[in-house]
Amino acid sequence: MIPIILDMDPGIDDAVALSIALTNPNFDIKLLTSVAGNVSVDKTTANLLKLTTFFNRQEVPVARGASKPLKKAFVDASYIHGASGMPGYDFETPKNQAIAQDAVSAMAETLLAATEPITVVATGSYTNIAQLIQRYPEALPHIKRFVLMGGSLSGGNVSSVAEFNVFTDPDAADIVFKSGIDIVMIGLDVTLKALLSLKTIDAVAKLGECGKMLHQLMTAYGDTEADGKPMHDVNTICYLLAPEFYTLTDYWVDVITQGPAAGATVADTQNRWSQGKKNVHVATDIDAAAFEKWFVAQIPNMNK
Ligand code: BDR
Ligand code: CA
Repeated sequence: MIPIILDMDPGIDDAVALSIALTNPNFDIKLLTSVAGNVSVDKTTANLLKLTTFFNRQEVPVARGASKPLKKAFVDASYIHGASGMPGYDFETPKNQAIAQDAVSAMAETLLAATEPITVVATGSYTNIAQLIQRYPEALPHIKRFVLMGGSLSGGNVSSVAEFNVFTDPDAADIVFKSGIDIVMIGLDVTLKALLSLKTIDAVAKLGECGKMLHQLMTAYGDTEADGKPMHDVNTICYLLAPEFYTLTDYWVDVITQGPAAGATVADTQNRWSQGKKNVHVATDIDAAAFEKWFVAQIPNMNK
């Protein structure tokens, strides 16, 4: 079992990633935390609760996180993920509620209580994680690694250089990248290669109620490339279950926090300024065909 905390901003690709994580017996999900990102934190929290109810996993605690970035103004991505963040499927009213504790203290408590190091997966901006680093340094030795969706060495999706999760809160990303904790950065360099064709998305519709739900969300998803749709966040879960699909290259990576390049993640690929130091394992390539085949095999053929 892989003990994990998932910090998310569902968001359609977050919802798809969480659906796979909640139904895979290899994960021991200790905590789900929400963050403002694709939509407001009220909505991302509600969406985590809708999904835990959908999969009858109400025992997994959900804690509400940051409502805005550390310093920047908050701007959502509802133009991609719809007003609710999970459009297209009529979810039942959640049977559970968020716990009273905020995301950051819930993460710290979970980590401090852990008997083995926990992998922390983040598929939204890293505001909660940065606050954990700042407020609870004693919890950090209990983190096995951060597996982050975000960043890019090869161009952005919200500016010519910046990826959405880092762009949303570059100050948080800067804190995380400088934390010294083991980091796997799964950015646009691989997620834009790992496309799901429309044929694959259509095939998912036939896989019971979960397949129907995911098909409806993915059909409503506004992020579309010429050859299919990138389910960016799903790559974090895929990496944990099938790391052999990914090529990682170690670099020193800096985050640009100000100016026209704000949100860029810049790797010292030519070893000009980092003097041989590395802070991030960057996913630089993926077996995209294996990812697509793996994806279809993850969808549980369940009925409600
Ligand atoms: C990331 O931005 C969000 O819109 C997606 O959910 C994903 O986490 C991709 O850049
Ligand atoms: Ca996300």
